[in-house]
Amino acid sequence: MPQRTLVILKPDAVRRGLTGEIIGRIERKADWSLAAVELRTLDRATLEQHYAEHEGRPFYEPLVEFMASGPSVVMVVEGERVIEGVRALAGPTDPIAAAPGSVRGDFGTIVRENLIHASDSEESAEREMKIFFPSFA
Ligand code: PPS
Repeated sequence: MPQRTLVILKPDAVRRGLTGEIIGRIERKADWSLAAVELRTLDRATLEQHYAEHEGRPFYEPLVEFMASGPSVVMVVEGERVIEGVRALAGPTDPIAAAPGSVRGDFGTIVRENLIHASDSEESAEREMKIFFPSFA
């Protein structure tokens, strides 16, 4: 069943020149495609909306600051089971716990700079696409 998901290649991925590598992995999955792609420096208001459910947690402030620290690549990816699929391709939050072969497992070491965000459910995907690409929803 085709789906859409919101994906962010975080400022560390852009700074380290890894966006082509990560986008390539996404594009090579059968029946997946990019529906929207934009290089964008995210402002605090947008990030507060995006991460609202985590407000008050110890990592919240450093996460918002980091995410505003430089340009990100914001994307909508569409295709077969893409919500679950991009999260599998990314690997778990902590890059050290992520298996080699996943984006975080191959390229990450510290939790904050874990390279990629992907919506975790259909509800999150709808909510997040509205935040970043209002004309899409
Ligand atoms: S939870 O508890 O399952 O909802 O949390 P999780 O999905 O693992 O993490 C939510 C987002 O917070 C980021 N995160 C962190 N950032 C910085 N430092 C620390 N310690 C930290 N722990 C979690 C995590 O990467 C998630 O952000 P996104 O953008 O969704 O990857």
